[in-house]
Amino acid sequence: MSADNAVETLSWSGCAVTGHLVMIDQTLLPSEVRYLECRDVSTVWEAIKMLRVRGAPAIGIAAAYGFVIGLQSTNHEDEGEYYRVAQQTAEYLASSRPTAVNLFWALNRMQQLCHSLRGELELTEITQKLLEEAQTIHQEDREMCRSIGQFGAKLLGEDVHGVLTHCNAGGLATAEYGTALSVFFTAQDMGKELHVFVDETRPLLQGARLTAWELMQRGIQATLICDSMAAQVMKEGRVHAVVTGADRIAANGDSANKIGTYSVAVLARAHGIPFYVAAPSSTFDLSLESGDQIPIEERQPEEITHGFGRQTAPDGIEVYNPAFDVTPADYIDAIITEKGIIQPVTFENINHILQVL
Ligand code: MRU
Repeated sequence: MSADNAVETLSWSGCAVTGHLVMIDQTLLPSEVRYLECRDVSTVWEAIKMLRVRGAPAIGIAAAYGFVIGLQSTNHEDEGEYYRVAQQTAEYLASSRPTAVNLFWALNRMQQLCHSLRGELELTEITQKLLEEAQTIHQEDREMCRSIGQFGAKLLGEDVHGVLTHCNAGGLATAEYGTALSVFFTAQDMGKELHVFVDETRPLLQGARLTAWELMQRGIQATLICDSMAAQVMKEGRVHAVVTGADRIAANGDSANKIGTYSVAVLARAHGIPFYVAAPSSTFDLSLESGDQIPIEERQPEEITHGFGRQTAPDGIEVYNPAFDVTPADYIDAIITEKGIIQPVTFENINHILQVL
């Protein structure tokens, strides 16, 4: 999870040609800390699909390593075959989950490097360079998370003690330290006393299973609530700011995040509480004008009717299970990035802070 915690979300073991990806299996947390070794690309695909690794930046990093794994078994003497497999591997990994843009961002980056080296190096050297690129993506994410924490902690003024977050945007969702949780961790490192209200995050309980666990590991005061209790704790005056992560942010600032985030943003606005999104530049998709164009993943009905193995709804009931929703930019007081704070959230400010224009 981080340099100063025992748990590491993702790591690579061994050399480029025979090494493998190791990840903590997040579906088993908090009751079991077990590591999964990914030695073939279908294991990486399944791990992303089944949320063994989840959270936008962590998915991107896993896919980058998965791209290397996909190339390991190819004939390193046959260039045509190597590049065919590279294309297939990228397409296959990209089909695992649709919403988090970091997945596509990381795979594009790997493919671009792969193509730029064609004919320049031996294929085994290209595989080595690709592993180095995956490790760079991994390291950059560590740095982006730290920087988001530094910028974000400044937004939590003296009168902010109670904060609320939804889903898990912590070390488990990133290389380490997280995005939304990095803001809390950094504030705590600076001596601030925070009390974090953790939405359990139906239906897969990333808040209860992962965020609560991470906050407890770091000794941050935390209270777990059901998603439906957020309005009540806000009305009681116990929440002074909300910080969440994001899976994809459109050019106008509309932000997709775990289902339920939009309702938290509406509640925050109704109670006059600032709502902040914390995300690295790799989570922006400036090719999309607005959040209406963000693809929303729909998951299996069983996640709702048979959550964690127990039937909780009648057989045959119709179910709708979108995994994400989009919070309109109007409801977001600021977006905290590794390059600075976007406030107010406008097309111009996004371009300015991301240094696109
Ligand atoms: O379905 P998940 O668990 O992958 O959803 C994750 C989230 O919605 C996170 O809030 C988001 O990816 C930000 S992670 C820093």
